Amino acid sequence: MTETDFILKNYDLNSIKSGNATWKTPSNIALVKYWGKQEPQIPENTSISFTLDACFTLTTLEYKLKERHSELVSESNHSDFNFEVYFEGEKKDDFKPKIATFFKRIEHYVPFLKDFDFVIESRNSFPHSSGIASSASGMSALALCVMSIERSLSGVEMTDEYFNKKASFLARLGSGSACRSIEGDIIVWGEHSEIKESSDLFGVKFPFKVHKNFKNYHDTILLVDEGEKQVSSTVGHKLMHGHPFAQQRFKQANENISKISEILKNGDLKEFVAIVESEALSLHAMMMTSNPYFILMKPNTLKIINKIWAFRAETNSNICFTLDAGANVHILFPENEKEAVNNFIIKELVQYCQENHYICDRIGFGAKRLSNS
Ligand code: DP6
Repeated sequence: MTETDFILKNYDLNSIKSGNATWKTPSNIALVKYWGKQEPQIPENTSISFTLDACFTLTTLEYKLKERHSELVSESNHSDFNFEVYFEGEKKDDFKPKIATFFKRIEHYVPFLKDFDFVIESRNSFPHSSGIASSASGMSALALCVMSIERSLSGVEMTDEYFNKKASFLARLGSGSACRSIEGDIIVWGEHSEIKESSDLFGVKFPFKVHKNFKNYHDTILLVDEGEKQVSSTVGHKLMHGHPFAQQRFKQANENISKISEILKNGDLKEFVAIVESEALSLHAMMMTSNPYFILMKPNTLKIINKIWAFRAETNSNICFTLDAGANVHILFPENEKEAVNNFIIKELVQYCQENHYICDRIGFGAKRLSNS
């Protein structure tokens, strides 16, 4: 599919005057990381993620067709999108620029955006300041709400497959990793010769049969640093332009996709651990070797990593860690180790979390529509 397949051409504004759509959309955790992109939101390498379950955003988009007279407002107003944003019940004008940028980017594909007045109401299942990337679940929820409007307006039958693909395509334009938060349970984003139908434009389901070892895989997120990140992902991605190790890193990631693809099929947990941890450290190595350089890990991140390595050496467990662009540690482990690993986390790791905060999550199956009228 190409980008032109996602342009809505025929729609009937008289088919709906007002309504609302609510979507509950999960976060995701990358196993092979996306770090580096080209315009417009095209990843430099393929990434793969587990869709999560407990970490989600719930967004309602209320829409009302503009009155004829308000369509005839002055030029400058006419070019603006009209929306209000509420986050956890509070009006949030500071969220508006990011959403306006998103609307501007997707307008070409969903040309009805300026025909409506919108109210966006959103909340997260996890604390906003927890350092958990809310852009993936937030942008994918909004993209799905917009797609619900498109479905009502388009008048023709739309397959779920097209709906999800276009939602992922739109979400990507809001935040790259958001395109992996539409479906579950394992999603690939970025064209790769060994993954059928993979695309730079949207996420696709991992197309092979996954070994039972990965069923119900756990991700316990240790909140090491709940503050605002010092360097945003957007800035970090930019620093991959002209980075001395960039090309090598993109090649490594694409090779890791081939390796992890085999591992997900054959269930080799030792190999899984090796790739996932190497990916997390390679991501952070890129940050430490960019210009300017920066470090997002905190002392407690390293303490946790060392404890995990010691526990694994002692018990032969398949526990491993991964990191996002922040200090928090995602601890991944199989279902049959949950008791032992939970005890270990409580006894030895929770002390390194800010205010002992952590979130127990697991692999999930994608976004859900809660209502649409
Ligand atoms: C480290 O998707 O947040 O989490 O496209 O600029 O919004 P933008 O970046 P974002 O980057 C995520 C980077 C990562 C790795 C990953 O999720 O693959």
